[in-house]
Amino acid sequence: MELTVDISTALEAGRQRTLDLLAPLDDDFLRAQHSTLMSPLVWDLAHVGNYEEIWLVRSLGGDAIRPDIDDLYDAFRHPRAGRPALPLLSPDEARSYIAVVRDRALELVDDTSFIHRMVVQHEHQHDETMLATIQLSGVGYEHADTPEGSLADGALDLDLGRVVIGSCDDLWAYDNERPGHEVDLAPFRIDLSPVRNRDYLEFIAAAGYDDPRLWTRDGWTWRQTEHAMAPLFWTNEGGNDWSVTRFGSRGDVRPGEAVEHVCWYEAAAYARWAGLRLPTEHEWEAAHRAGALEGVGQVWEWTQSDFEPWPGFEAHPYREYSEVFFGSDYKVLRGGSWATHETVLRPTFRNWDYPIRRQIFGGFRCARDAG
Ligand code: AVJ
Ligand code: FE
Repeated sequence: MELTVDISTALEAGRQRTLDLLAPLDDDFLRAQHSTLMSPLVWDLAHVGNYEEIWLVRSLGGDAIRPDIDDLYDAFRHPRAGRPALPLLSPDEARSYIAVVRDRALELVDDTSFIHRMVVQHEHQHDETMLATIQLSGVGYEHADTPEGSLADGALDLDLGRVVIGSCDDLWAYDNERPGHEVDLAPFRIDLSPVRNRDYLEFIAAAGYDDPRLWTRDGWTWRQTEHAMAPLFWTNEGGNDWSVTRFGSRGDVRPGEAVEHVCWYEAAAYARWAGLRLPTEHEWEAAHRAGALEGVGQVWEWTQSDFEPWPGFEAHPYREYSEVFFGSDYKVLRGGSWATHETVLRPTFRNWDYPIRRQIFGGFRCARDAG
């Protein structure tokens, strides 16, 4: 996919989105930590500017603007839970700082560079993270509705043989999508659509959760956690009558929509209950490239796969983007959600999170071996 954007326009559109997202929220709200999983929003705001300063100003030979605040906005120096206690820029200071950085960055724009696309995507990725923070906070917030579902039933058998995975030449592709390479895929069957709320409600009603075999992995039992027996943000009115609270408003769970805010363990448990499994990343990507998947871009889709480098991986240019996360601690999600910007939506894009996490706008679809 090569989006024909000019980089200045893409940067400015991302900034407008960020500012619009935060505009309805007051300073106290921006400074507060709404969940220990997430940063105060004012941290994200200055962080996108600091990242832009590092990559689109300093690394291109521009003069440093605020090198003194690099430490504050380095995600690896300060875990999210500790960020509210840092001497962060105020919301006004952050807005001024990122505007100054932007003016300098626009002088050094190069429409053909990966690094500029990286920074465009980075801001949009933080915008999605900020939306997740706002959702977790429970504050009343106007938002785009999730798409009303016309998600199809059914599954497709695919015998694709040798397929291309990843990319060698997409200027938008992050290091973890590279290099492009071929793999042999055994025949498999994959759902046309993500699992919908109505499907998931059956799993709940069938007490799918009550089979303890579904809840144990590496000696760790899901049922011992604080989590309820339904997606995050669902509440039970008795029986199988569930409501969902989205951005501060409670409403009925809509049966046709893709299920959202489930963790990997729940997704895997559902799949096993249905006699299926989650697709591997290879299967998901190959099926998407073959045009077989519907409903991509509604919810991130958990895959069976751990986040591992493709063969021949080289960290580029930001070592901490991918490399430090490789390994079996993280599971990969593919596709994108309703909150994901088009500069991030591509068949090769790899997202990841801890398998217990449910704050991401994540669901799943199922697969199985063919035959
Ligand atoms: C790809 C969403 C897992 O938020 O940790 C943002 C994206 N990396 N800033 C994350 C990211 C650096 C990343 N995820
Ligand atoms: Fe970041």
